[in-house]
Amino acid sequence: MRTTPADAETTEDVIDLLRAQHGRIRDLFDEVLHSDGTERRDAFRELVRLLAVHETAEEEIVHPVARRFPGGDGIVDDRLAEEREAKELLAELDGMDTDDPAFLKSVDKLRMDVLTHARAEERYEFDRIRGEFSPQQLRGFAAAVRAAEATAPTHPRPGVESAKKNMLVGPPAALMDRVRDLIRDARDK
Ligand SMILES: [Fe+2]
Ligand SMILES: [Fe+2]
Repeated sequence: MRTTPADAETTEDVIDLLRAQHGRIRDLFDEVLHSDGTERRDAFRELVRLLAVHETAEEEIVHPVARRFPGGDGIVDDRLAEEREAKELLAELDGMDTDDPAFLKSVDKLRMDVLTHARAEERYEFDRIRGEFSPQQLRGFAAAVRAAEATAPTHPRPGVESAKKNMLVGPPAALMDRVRDLIRDARDK
């Protein structure tokens, strides 16, 4: 169920948005792996923030509905296990020196895991999900995800940043909790 061309400019479908986020996540991993110093720290921070918004949105919007499909429980349990593992790895990376070779090694593993996870979601969940919601709901969810993205803590202002250390916006888990509240607020309005 896509929006009509007349709506296209003012509306956005949450499935398209989540799919586009997969692309941005992939690009940010490349940026982290192929930069260094401040640039790498910034790219990693942005990546953590986007992952928090994205995975939380999927947990609140996509996975619960995918459970209703034939075989859905198994599919969703696998995705949730992958997301849990990714969160654990992210928590380990939090606070690490981004120029430490061990950091890069873990980021590379996380990248493989997250991209495989994203492919499975697109294949087994995304396309089937669309038919489960009205265009209005799909637009409402997209707006909720956008709102969470806009409100989630962002980079420290230039000059305020405490430099060297890989200072995230707080532990990834705390960020995800906050995003969850934002999405639930918007979703349940
Ligand atoms: Fe996911
Ligand atoms: Fe995803």
